[in-house]
Amino acid sequence: MGRSRTNSGPAEDLLIELDRDASVPLHRQIEGSIRSGIRAGRLRAGASLPPSRTLAAGLGVSRGVVVEAYQQLVAEGYITSRPGGYTQVAASMPPAGAGVGAATPATRPAVGAAGTGAGFRVDFGYGRTDVSQFPRAAWLRSVRAVLAGTPNDRFAYLDGRGVPELREALCDYLNRVRGTAAAPDDVVICSGYGQGVSLLIQVLARRGARRIAVEDPSSKDDAWVVAAAAGLDVVGIPVGPDGVQVGALNRADADAIVLTPSHQWPTGGVLSAGARAEVIRWAKRRGAIVIEDDYDAEYRYDRAPVGAMQGLAPEHVVYCGTASKTLAPGLRLGWLVVPPHLVADVAAAKLLADRGSPVIDQLTFADFLARGEFDRHLRRMRPIYRRRRDALLHALRTHLPDLEPAGIAAGQHVVAWLPPGLDEAAVVAAAARHGLGIHGVGPYRINAAEPGGLIFGYAILGESAIAEGVALLAAAVKEVREA
Ligand SMILES: Cc1ncc(COP(=O)(O)O)c(C=O)c1O
Repeated sequence: MGRSRTNSGPAEDLLIELDRDASVPLHRQIEGSIRSGIRAGRLRAGASLPPSRTLAAGLGVSRGVVVEAYQQLVAEGYITSRPGGYTQVAASMPPAGAGVGAATPATRPAVGAAGTGAGFRVDFGYGRTDVSQFPRAAWLRSVRAVLAGTPNDRFAYLDGRGVPELREALCDYLNRVRGTAAAPDDVVICSGYGQGVSLLIQVLARRGARRIAVEDPSSKDDAWVVAAAAGLDVVGIPVGPDGVQVGALNRADADAIVLTPSHQWPTGGVLSAGARAEVIRWAKRRGAIVIEDDYDAEYRYDRAPVGAMQGLAPEHVVYCGTASKTLAPGLRLGWLVVPPHLVADVAAAKLLADRGSPVIDQLTFADFLARGEFDRHLRRMRPIYRRRRDALLHALRTHLPDLEPAGIAAGQHVVAWLPPGLDEAAVVAAAARHGLGIHGVGPYRINAAEPGGLIFGYAILGESAIAEGVALLAAAVKEVREA
C-alpha cells in the first residue's frame, strides 16, 4: 500500500495486495493492509481513502468486503467516516496494540537535517537556512510565467546537464558575482551539492581515482561517505586559520580534493590567494581535480569578496553551488561547473541517477534569476543574517569572553574555539542538560583532536533566542568548570 492523497475529495485508488489463496478472509487482509499503512506513516492523518464502491471495484471484490473492513477500522479509531461515504485516516492514531499486528509508528528524521535534535529551548544546530523568509510571492510569479509560457515539448525528458535557460542564467550570475569562468555547456544541474559531489566522485572513481583528500575538519555527510562507498581512500588535510595546509596536500598522493575555500566548513577560514595558487599548481602537476564547495559565499558581511577558484583554473576545478543556503534546502537545486573533459560523464551520471532534476523547478529558478529576484532576495537577507551574527558575537563577548570566535565575516555559522582545559564533549553534554543544542567541532575531525570548538548555526534564530542560547551555554560552561 502506498499512495494516498490529502486533497479535499475522495481518493481514487489505494494499493492493496490481496492473496486470494490465503486462509485470511479478504476483508481482514484489506483491514490489515490499511492499518499497517497508517501505523507506518505511509497513510497520513487526514489522508482520504477511496469510497468503498471504488476500492471494491479496483480490488475485484464485492462492496460488502470493503465496507466490513472500513467499519472495523472505524471501530478501532484508525479511520473516520462521514455521511456521503467520505472516509479519512483519523487525525490521531490509536494507541499501539489497537487492532491486529500493530507496529511502532515510523517517524522518519529528515536526512541531512543538521539540527542537533528535538526538545531544546535553543538549538544552534548548523546547516539550517531561514526558510520562513523564502520569497514565495516572487517564486510564484516565476512559476506562473513558466507554466503560462513554456511550450509543451519542454516538459519532455531532459538533457543530463539540465535546461539551457537555467544553465545560461547561472553562468551570468556566477561569472558576475563569483568570478567563475563558466560556460552554459559545462554546467550540470543537480539535486543540491549532495548529489553533485556524489556524481563527481563516482565519475572520478570510474576514471581511475584512488584517493580523495578532504579538509580536516569537514562535513562528514557527503564526500566522505560517497568516496568510501566508491572504494576510494579518504585522507584528511589539516586546516589552519587560513584554510587547508597545502604542504600536507602535496604529501597526500591524492587524485582530488574537496575544498570550501571561501568559508571553510566549519572553521570559517578563507583560503589565502597564495594557498589557492599552490593548490592549483598541485592540481596541474598531478592532473588532479579540485572540488570547490561554494556553499555559502553569498553571505559576506565585513570582508572583501573572494572569487571562486574555478575562475583561476576551469580545467582543474569543479565549482559546486547550491540554493540550500540562499533559498531553501528543500528545493534540492544545485549546480556544477565542470571541466569540459568531464562534462559528458557527469551529465550521463546525472541521467542515470534520476533522469534529470524537475524541469518546472529549473525553469522557475532560471526565470527568478533572470528577473533579478535572486539578487533582490540576497540583498534583503544579508542584513537579517548579519544582525543575528552580531547578536551572537555580542552575547559571546558578554557571557563567554574567553571563547574565541572565528570565521565570523561570512556565512550562517560561527565557530568559537574553547580555551585550553575546557573539554568540548563535556561542554556539549552540559549544554544539552541546560536545554541548548550545539555541535562540537570534534566529530568532524579526522586526525587532530585539538583545539576544542563549538559550531553556532545562527541563521534561523531571532536575536533574543541567540542571547538566551549563549546565556544557557554560559551556565553549562560554569557547571563544567566547577566540576
Ligand atoms: C559544507 C556544506 N556544503 C554544502 C551544503 C549544501 O548541501 P546541499 O546543497 O546538498 O543541501 C551544506 C549544507 O549544510 C554544507 O554544510
